[in-house]
Amino acid sequence: MAALRTGVFRLAVSTMHCRPGVFRKYSAGPLYQYILVDRKGHNQNVGFIQLNRTKALNALSDGLMAEINQALDVFEADPQIGAIVITGSEKAFAAGADIKEMQNRTFQECYGGSFLSHWNRISTLKKPVVAAVNGFALGGGCELAMMCDIIYAGEKAQFGQPEILIGTIPGAGGTQRLTRAVGKSLAMEMILTGDRINAQEAKEAGLVSRVYPVDKVVDEAITCGEKIANNSKIIVSMAKEAVNGAFELSLSEGNRLEKRLFHSTFATDDRKEGMTAFLEKRKANFNDQ
Ligand code: HXC
Repeated sequence: MAALRTGVFRLAVSTMHCRPGVFRKYSAGPLYQYILVDRKGHNQNVGFIQLNRTKALNALSDGLMAEINQALDVFEADPQIGAIVITGSEKAFAAGADIKEMQNRTFQECYGGSFLSHWNRISTLKKPVVAAVNGFALGGGCELAMMCDIIYAGEKAQFGQPEILIGTIPGAGGTQRLTRAVGKSLAMEMILTGDRINAQEAKEAGLVSRVYPVDKVVDEAITCGEKIANNSKIIVSMAKEAVNGAFELSLSEGNRLEKRLFHSTFATDDRKEGMTAFLEKRKANFNDQ
């Protein structure tokens, strides 16, 4: 948490000359209004995005989603970044899509304007994303977390798909990803009743991999991101692609994909370096080639 506070403070200082409420990105470039963006880790190789609409419990407005996508694009293109952490505040990771923005939308606007079509950028990234969830992860907030590759939860986190209570249903993958993560019965129960589950239940159900004290979860997610980022970035991407194949393909097709990607690692310098370093009893020095 200290590292997080330091990073945010530094960012806040660097924004003193910006418009009020507008935050500068971690390097020269566009301004962000709804998120804080930084680099974390000893090697500064973990991209860090913190949702920053705290008063609205990080409700996912169009503007906020556009900024998340923009920051993700920057990190995806940055050769130094090997993993990304996304988090919210202690009270809310995100309380869902912005209901005020949606309230008066028509079907024609949603369908014609392909509402939510830009929501899945996280799920198309080559670089791994770790979600550090404190507080509410509801509706689109839960869906956003589930688009990430790893979810760490703070002890007071709550996950839910309460759209049914406001007369709609999940629209950014909730019915699909939650069902794959926790199984049909619990997913149905959550989606049909709107009931939430807590962090421990989410862990038992397989939605999150680890639960930490509230003030530790962000640092733990950054540590996880660092471990990933210190491996070969190209091999990490291949491993991520192979795991994601498990959600799309039959067992035989998935195994074939895995085998091809495994073979492909032999086309890289890093595979040679990794095995050579092991046999020479030294730490591998990957160059991401
Ligand atoms: C817009 C929201 C919001 C949301 C909270 N706020 N959630 N604004 N969209 N999803 C705003 C409130 O209006 C309020 O603003 C402020 O945040 C604080 O919220 P409170 O309700 O006063 O806080 P609290 O009593 O602590 O209750 C917290 C809560 C509740 C349980 C999380 O806010 C809640 O139920 N939120 C809605 C959750 C939800 O239904 N999510 C799904 C949305 S639909 P003011 O101005 O009054 O202070 C969705 C569709 C996904 O996500 C489809 C694909 C993306």
